[in-house]
Order: sequence, then C-alpha cells, then structure tokens
Amino acid sequence: MSDNSLRILKILRNSRDYISGEDISVELGVSRSAVWKSIGKLRKKGYIVDAVSNRGYHLSEGIDLPISDEIHRYLDTECFGSEIVYMDSVDSTNSLAMTLAARGAAHGTVVTADQQTDGRGRMGRKWISPPCSNLYLSIILRPEVSPTEASQIPILSVVASIRALKRTVSDMSFGIKWPNDIYCRDRKISGTLCEMKAETDRVNHVVVGTGINVNMKPSDDSIRDIATSLFMETGIEYSRVRLASFLLEEFERVYNRWLIEGNLEFIIDEWDGYSLLKGKQVDVRTATRIVSGKVTGIARNGALKLELPDGTVRFVYAGDATLHGPSSGS
Ligand code: BTN
Repeated sequence: MSDNSLRILKILRNSRDYISGEDISVELGVSRSAVWKSIGKLRKKGYIVDAVSNRGYHLSEGIDLPISDEIHRYLDTECFGSEIVYMDSVDSTNSLAMTLAARGAAHGTVVTADQQTDGRGRMGRKWISPPCSNLYLSIILRPEVSPTEASQIPILSVVASIRALKRTVSDMSFGIKWPNDIYCRDRKISGTLCEMKAETDRVNHVVVGTGINVNMKPSDDSIRDIATSLFMETGIEYSRVRLASFLLEEFERVYNRWLIEGNLEFIIDEWDGYSLLKGKQVDVRTATRIVSGKVTGIARNGALKLELPDGTVRFVYAGDATLHGPSSGS
C-alpha cells in the first residue's frame, strides 16, 4: 500500500468524526486529488470509507491487514515488532527480511505481507500464501550466541506460535511435529522457516518466518487433505492483526527467558505436552541419512531424542520426521 494511503489510514483512524479532504491534504502536504486517489486505494483494499459532502471522510470499518499501524494498536512488546515493514505482495517475507538484515535492520524488525508469491517452506518446499487470508510474518533476530545455540530458536518459535494460537482460539487443540510444524486434526496449520547468517562461532542474524493458516478457505481437495486453517476448523474468521501481536508478544517472552537461562529447559514440558511424536516410531530424514527410532522427547538443546532398535539413544539436531504407519500426518 502506498505511503499516502497508510498515512491517510492513520488520520482516519485517529479522527472520531468526519474529516474533510481539505484538512487531510493540508496535513499531508498533498493535493486533494492525491487524497481522493489514496482513499480509492484504501477502498480497493476493503476499507469502508464513507464520504459525505460538506463533512468529508470517515472510516466506518477497518479490515484486517497486518500493517504496522494496525498491529501497533494492540502490540505490547519491548522490542519485537518496534519496526514493522508491510508489503501488499512480496516473494517471501523471509527473503525480504534476510535482505533487510544484511543491510543492518535492527534486532526485532518484522516483515509482514498480505500475500507471498514465492512463500518458502523447510526442505525446499513451497508455502501456499494466498492474499487476504493468512499470516506471513518474519522477524529479524541478532542473538549474541553461537550458531549451535541459535539452532534452538525454532523450538522457541513453535511454542510461541502455539501460545498465540491458544490465545486466539482457546478450546482448539494443537500438536507439534518436531521441529516446528503445528497440526490440528492431522492437518498442518502452521510452519516456521528459520534462516541464519553466521560465521564459525558467531551469529550475524537469524530470520524466523512463520506462516499461520488463519482464514484460508478449502480451495481444493489436495490442500484440504494436508492443510487446514482456523477458519476451516471453526467456521469463524479471525484477525491476522491480533494473531500477529499475540505471536510477537509470546515470542519475545520465551526468547528473553531463553537468553537469560541459556537453554530450553523451561519450555520442554510444555513442548512435550504438544508433541505428536513422543513415544512414536519415526524416520528422521537428515541432510545425510535417514535415522529410525522411537521418539522419547527433546533435549534441553532442542535435539530430538530417539531410542534406536538396539536401545541406544541418538540425538538428532536437524531434519524432517515422518511417523511410521498409515496416519503419518507429515
Ligand atoms: C514449513 O513448514 O515448511 C515452513 C513454512 C514457513 C512459511 C513462512 S510464511 C512467512 C515466511 N516467509 C516464507 O517464505 N516462509 C515463511
């Protein structure tokens, strides 16, 4: 959305009564026709802006775009989301966040988008990212930890996502598939892609990109079988803006505690409680091999603990787990 449209949206939000086109144009230092055009753009985006002659404009209803001003109406964090870059459409919020991070964007900077044209998932997969429906949010982190320690961040992010989802729909049940997929009734509702730029012993930046299927409708059967959304589960539409603010609040909370404590001990029980794999036989595909065994939990460093057929315990630090048997849910 153009800069003028965003500034006009802010003015309309802040004025209880009608405000004239003349007043807006003076406040922004632009022509009245520029104001009119920008209001047209807001309307195209779905905002309902009433226009009454001799009185001016009034925003009668907001829509649910995860733009900075909207998220900041609710957000209660110290740092996460202080800066929010919103795009109507972007290839991938993670790609843009990685670029911004390389150019020096601050710790806690967030990128959101209404739509992604090339949303990316883990292991080279695609993330379906239609407009006006789901949440696509990436956050730039600059933790002063080693790259090995930073690999615990996906566990923090998935717990934060579950807490944010529970604050949105408290009576829905969610499960985690290691490391950070969230499922609802055997269908995936959220995933996180963490990317890192690091040297041997120091992290430059990490981008944590979360996709949550919020109001996506069941478009075709192929998706219906593997993915779901809050809307598909409940028949109710939820606010992406509120969910984004919940996610940033919860993430900041667990992230700060992790920095202080130096490990994941404090959330392991919570994570275990949501784990879909605990006690199950799985195949874990790592970069180099497939390891099969029974999941006994996660370690305080985030590794998946597997009991191998010979009784030995193996820790797996990165990979993709598939359940043995027909209802794999992967
Ligand atoms: C997965 O489950 O494979 C991870 C999916 C991650 C999708 C999110 S959407 C926001 C961010 N931008 C991307 O391109 N990917 C992540």
